Order: sequence, then C-alpha cells, then structure tokens
Amino acid sequence: MSLIETKGLRKVFRQAVKDPGLAGAVKHLFTQRYKDKCAVEGIDLKIEEGESVAYVGPNGAGKSTTIKMLSGVLVPSGGEVVVDGLVPYKQRMDNAQRIGAVFGQRTQLWWDIPVRESLALLRDIYQVPESTFKKNMDAFTELLGLESFLHLSARKLSLGQRMRADLAAALLHDPKIVYLDEPTIGLDVAVKHRIRDFIKEMNRAKGTTMLLTTHDLGDIEDLCERLVIIDQGRIIYDGKLQDVKDAFARERTIHIQLSSPLPEAESLFRDLPDVSVNRPGEGAEAAFSLSIRFDRFRCTASDIVKRVMNRGEVVDFRIDEPSIEDIIRRVYEGQLDSVVLAEAGKGSA
Ligand SMILES: Nc1ncnc2c1ncn2[C@@H]1O[C@H](COP(=O)(O)OP(=O)(O)OP(=O)(O)O)[C@@H](O)[C@H]1O
Ligand SMILES: [Mg+2]
Repeated sequence: MSLIETKGLRKVFRQAVKDPGLAGAVKHLFTQRYKDKCAVEGIDLKIEEGESVAYVGPNGAGKSTTIKMLSGVLVPSGGEVVVDGLVPYKQRMDNAQRIGAVFGQRTQLWWDIPVRESLALLRDIYQVPESTFKKNMDAFTELLGLESFLHLSARKLSLGQRMRADLAAALLHDPKIVYLDEPTIGLDVAVKHRIRDFIKEMNRAKGTTMLLTTHDLGDIEDLCERLVIIDQGRIIYDGKLQDVKDAFARERTIHIQLSSPLPEAESLFRDLPDVSVNRPGEGAEAAFSLSIRFDRFRCTASDIVKRVMNRGEVVDFRIDEPSIEDIIRRVYEGQLDSVVLAEAGKGSA
C-alpha cells in the first residue's frame, strides 16, 4: 500500500442558487434552491514515501478540495482515502500527528500572540519532545530566517514572514507528509527561493513526502519530479515532469553564433523535413547568428550542429529548453489530446 492512496475520491458541494440582489436573498429564504457542484470527481492517486508531487490545475479544478480531504478537514462524498494507514476524516487526531499543512491563503498561527508562543503551543499540542523542538527551532530559524520576527504576533507579519512562520509551524513535529497549498503565493523572488530551498531540504534530509499545489511553475520545476494535472475534478495527467516536457516539446530551437557569415545555411538541411532557418538580429549581427527550428523526433540537435560546423566555425550555441509554462497552458486550454497525455504519463505513473 502506498503512503497516500485514494480511489474514486469525490466531493460534491451543495451550492445555493440565488437570484441577484436583496430580492433574490429574500426569495431564497422562502424557496431555497440548491444545485450540486462536483468539485472532485473520482481521483485515483498513489503517492509513495519520500515523493514530492506537484498537484496543479486551473482555478476551481478541485486542488484545495482534494488536499482538504487528504488532511481530514473535509469528509469525502464518495470513494476512499487512506493516508499512512489511516482514514483522515475518521482518525483526525492520529492523522494530524503525521501530517503538516500549509495553506497559503490562511494561517494556522494564532493572530494575537507572538510567533514564538504559537510555536510553543504547537509543541504542546503535538507533544513534540523538547530535544526535537529545540533542534527544529534552531534549524528552521536559520533556514527560514525567522529570528527577526519571532517576537511579533502573526497579525503584524508581512505576507512573506507569515508564510515562513507557517512553514515552521507545519513542520515542527516532524510530520511524514506535508501538504502545501500555494505556499509561495504573493511572495517576492527572494522569499520564494528561501521557501523552495527549505522545502527541498526537508524532502532531502528527512525524506518528508510532499504534495504541493501552486500556480507558480517555477515551484514545480524546482521541487517536483512528478506532476499531476487535474481539471474539473479529474486527473488528466500523472507522470514525470520531464515526460510531459519531452512529449510536447516536439519542436526545438537551436541558436548558433558563427565567426563568419554562412549565407547558404538553408541548403544544409534540404534533406531534413521540418527544419527552418531564421537569422535573428539586424544587419551585420544577423549574418553571424542562426536560429534553427527542428522537430526533435525527426533529427537531433547534434545533427544540426554538425552540419553547420562542417561549413563554418561555430562560436557558441544553445538549445531552447521546452517551456513548462507553454506546455501547461496548452494542457489547460485543452489543446493537447488526452491520448497523448496518457501516453506521456505511461511508464512513470
Ligand atoms: N465550501 C464550498 N462550498 C461550495 N463550493 C465549494 C466549496 N469549496 C470549493 N467549492 C467549489 O469547488 C470547486 C473546486 O474548488 P477548489 O478550491 O478545490 O479549487 P482549486 O483547484 O483549489 O482552485 P484555486 O486554484 O483557485 O485555488 C470550485 O468550483 C469551488 O467553487
Ligand atoms: Mg485552491
């Protein structure tokens, strides 16, 4: 059995249907109408110990709802969920000992007491041994740079400070599993990196299993090897991040700098299908640079470079990495065939 396992996990919310305005609200008092909103529609997910998984999807896809069911905050409407041998919503206390959760949109710290006191309270709640508490406090203070605001109440913290304090709070009791729901939302670049480094370190040093939702694709690239994409409550891709990149980045571009112009570059690739040559830049500069687009299922970057090197002197070259941004956007927009997605997910899922 996997550390986290769900089968056909579902959540249906009952949403009130109201006409707009006060009249609508009054009318709703007398004739209540509801419609069911299926936020999560049958999620099958297996996560092994030590994995770091990105759980992404467009707004409203059902990510937070899934995480709330995994952490025991919400009771599922159907299906099964077992986390480290427990059913989270039934065994909430035992489950809480094994998990940590950070919800970027809200804090688990007490608003009005100093962060240091909040952390001490959590120590008591989770019955963290004094030695562990001290060790973690020292490490977290250092890694997350907490020192300057430990004496402030959560109310007074900036967003970036609050998020760092929340991370410390979530990990204080050495949980096996950490759920991170948008842990870098609204943060500046430096704090983002600090948080990513911290998450990486916890995953590496303690083998903490991580499930992360984010709209920041940098988080995914930095933290996760496995990517699960959901849309409208269903999984549409589950596999390696690299596989999804490989599958969709058919087209690559190689940029070459030459020491002397190569006007006949086009002719070098006549026999190769789908190769196009561009000369970026203007005037003289354009003569010394080539951007060659090719289909990497039909030829390789080294084919291309070799051919150019046979005719001219290559000073420098670089290959554009497929942009995860572009790939995910295409997945969200439904441009990618689900068959292709399934193919890409095979073998690694
Ligand atoms: N308590 C609730 N009552 C009614 N509907 C809800 C409730 N919570 C979530 N929903 C609905 O369920 C769907 C999924 O919401 P959820 O918060 O899981 O999305 P998400 O993937 O986390 O989106 P985001 O990227 O915006 O955070 C949405 O349509 C939302 O309106
Ligand atoms: Mg959410």
